Formats: sequence, C-alpha cells, structure tokens
Amino acid sequence: MNSSTPEHHPTRVLVTGGAGFIGANFLQHMVPAYPDVAFVTLDALTYAGHRRNIAPVAEADNFTFVEGDIADAALVGRLFDEHAFTTVVHFAAESHVDRSIQDPLAFVRTNVVGTATLLEAARTAWRDDGDYRFHHISTDEVFGELGAEGTFTEATPYAPRSPYAASKAGSDHLVRAYGHTYGLPFTLSNTSNNYGPYQHPEKLIPLVILRALREQPIPVYGDGQNVRDWLHVQDHALALDCILRHGRTGQTYLVSAEVERTNLHLVETLTDLVDAALDRPAGTARQHITFVTDRPGHDFRYAVDASRVRDELSWRPQYDLPAGLEQTVRWYLDHPDWLEAITDEDYAAYIDAQYGT
Ligand code: NAD
Ligand code: DAU
Repeated sequence: MNSSTPEHHPTRVLVTGGAGFIGANFLQHMVPAYPDVAFVTLDALTYAGHRRNIAPVAEADNFTFVEGDIADAALVGRLFDEHAFTTVVHFAAESHVDRSIQDPLAFVRTNVVGTATLLEAARTAWRDDGDYRFHHISTDEVFGELGAEGTFTEATPYAPRSPYAASKAGSDHLVRAYGHTYGLPFTLSNTSNNYGPYQHPEKLIPLVILRALREQPIPVYGDGQNVRDWLHVQDHALALDCILRHGRTGQTYLVSAEVERTNLHLVETLTDLVDAALDRPAGTARQHITFVTDRPGHDFRYAVDASRVRDELSWRPQYDLPAGLEQTVRWYLDHPDWLEAITDEDYAAYIDAQYGT
C-alpha cells in the first residue's frame, strides 16, 4: 500500500442498501471484522432487499437496521442527527438494467434524487474538519460499451446507454460536484459485474442456476456473444473495505477481477456445474438454453482495468472464476429456503412478463 495515502477511520457508518446483494455481503464482512465500529443500514426493502440477507449480522451489538427511503430527506437528516455518522457507504439503488427499460423514472428517483438527498445530509452534518468520508458505489456501465478491444480506465469518458447507467452516471456527477463545490470528502468506485451469494435471481447468474435447477428454459439474449467482466462479491467487499480506509479523498477506483466471458460461455459453464452438483447426466440443463429477443440497447462488452486499486491499495481478488462459480452454484443449491422466499409471487409475475414462461 502507498504509505503516503491518508487513512480514514470509520467509527459510525451509514450503509445504504445493506439488505441488497452487495450491501449484505459487505455488511457480513465488515460487522464482525470491526466490532468497535457502529453500522446502521438504511434500506427501503424494495423487491431487491430482504431481511434474510442480513440475518447473519442482525443480532450483532454494532449493527442497526432502519427501514426507509434514501430519498426521504427528513428521515436521512434525523439519522445523521441521531448517529453522528463519520462515514457513508452508499449502495442503495435500483440496479437492474431490464427494469430500467420498463420504468426509468424509478431509477431517476432513487439513484439520482436519493443520492442527492444523502449528499445534502452529509454536507449539512459535516461542517467541521473531522475525519469524514462518503463512499459512492457505482458501475462500469457509466462508460458505455466497448468493442472487441480495449478496457475502461478511470480516465474513460462517461457514455451511459441505458436508463440505469444514465441514472448512475448522474449520481456519480453529483458526488464529484459535492466534492468540488463544497469540499465533501468522497471516494467513488465503478465496479464490473458482481456474482456470488444473495444475488437476486433477476440477474443472469442466479437466474441461470435457478432455472437449470428447475429444468426451465434458460433465456440468453441475442446470440449470447456479449461479454461481461466478472468479480466475486466477497472480493468486492474486501476492495471496498480497503478503499474506505486507505483510498485517497476525491479519487475514483475501478474494481474488477479482469475476467471476461461471453454470456453463452458463462451460461454453459453454469448449467454444467448445476448438473454435476446434482449428479445429473451431462447436458441435462444445457438443453434448456434458449436464445430470446435481445435487450434493447444491449451493451456489447465491458472490461475494466483495475490497476489503480491493485497498485495503490494492494487489493487483489481472492477468487478465480471457476472456483467462484462453483462456490456460487453450491451456495444457491444449499439455500433452497432463501430461493423459495425470493422467488415469491412478485418474482413469478416479473419472470412471466419478461420471458413469458
Ligand atoms: P440490489 O438491487 O441487489 O440491492 C439494492 C438495495 O437497495 C436493496 O436492498 C433495496 O431494497 C435498496 N433500495 C432500493 N431503493 C432504495 C431506496 N429508495 N431507499 C433505500 N433503499 C433502497 O443491488 P446490488 O446489486 O447490491 O447493487 C448495489 C450497488 O452496487 C448499486 O448502487 C449498483 O448500482 C452497484 N453496482 C452493482 C453491480 C452488480 O453487478 N450487482 C456492479 C457494479 C455496481
Ligand atoms: O457491469 C455492472 C452491472 O452489472 C451493474 O451495474 C448492474 O447493477 C448489474 O445488474 C449488471 O448489469 P448487467 O446488465 O450486465 O447484468 P445482468 O445480470 O442483467 O446481465 C448480464 C448479461 O447477461 C447481459 O449481457 C445481459 C445478459 N442476460 C441477462 C439476463 C437477465 C441474458 O442473456 N439473459 C438474461 O435472462
């Protein structure tokens, strides 16, 4: 680690969106790792947030759960007054590209207005020169799409192409504007596709595992040749821990394991892993792979150059993709109760509307 980077010492941390996929994995790492730090999570428990995701930390003395909306300025202000946060780690968002195509305004409200509401509360509360930090979690999708060559870096211009990506880009601009205009101490990370335990099965990897398990059609958009860059969520949590404490104020960090796969290759790998885990004949799940109408505006390829977070902060991913996918398949197969609870009537209606199956 670069010894000249200033340290941030979080003592009272607001984690927004902690009942979602990445937030829950982050809390499951941080709450036991830092017993002297108080963590408060604010989560609206939308379709994407579940108390089950934070059950492993729910009883910890240093953890508090608050159900509420990040765009509720009165609530957010009251929480800052009550808890005197030193630190905000901002995950809460509408996060699914397909849903943003159906209902873009929900994304503007939460991702743009919600982020602005949090920034205002932090600006109001952090008037002295204390040790404060606002860490904003964002996505590589703000950079648009790549062709067959090249990678995103921290210098890549913004070119979002979906309502989700545009709303995240808007939130990133607001965070930087608060840094420049008001001196708000922030860090920002743009991360590639995450996978691992507790991900909502609207997203590709848990969707494939679930549908392979149930021997249902497995939808692959277009010709399956789009490329994503996959990062295990627990490696993301470790990177965020590092950035939060050692990242430079005002700095952006791109985070990824730099592992690219076409969607079709990934889906075939997952179906084979599910068959193997269930002792089914090879090819049982593969026969359910179905090419469906492409996502409108579907970005072709994402690939992230994560050299800054590696070189400056000495972060390294612990999972390689084969081991990470195997662990992930096992986790979903070993948690039928979780899958059952998540795939409720709302989920069934979503899948029906999306794929008509
Ligand atoms: P998620 O959809 O699984 O969880 C989002 C959480 O935010 C849920 O618990 C939900 O209840 C909560 N939430 C939504 N609207 C809210 C509101 N108005 N007020 C309070 N809480 C609200 O998302 P995720 O995959 O865990 O993503 C977390 C963050 O990471 C997002 O900001 C996303 O843009 C970013 N990100 C995700 C990925 C990925 O691959 N999943 C990659 C890069 C960046
Ligand atoms: O790149 C980071 C982003 O990764 C995050 O910011 C988003 O929050 C997260 O949802 C994810 O976005 P993607 O659109 O890449 O993820 P998704 O899991 O929806 O899709 C992954 C790829 O698989 C994408 O190319 C679309 C394709 N796909 C997806 C679904 C749900 C299919 O082929 N079939 C499907 O049913």
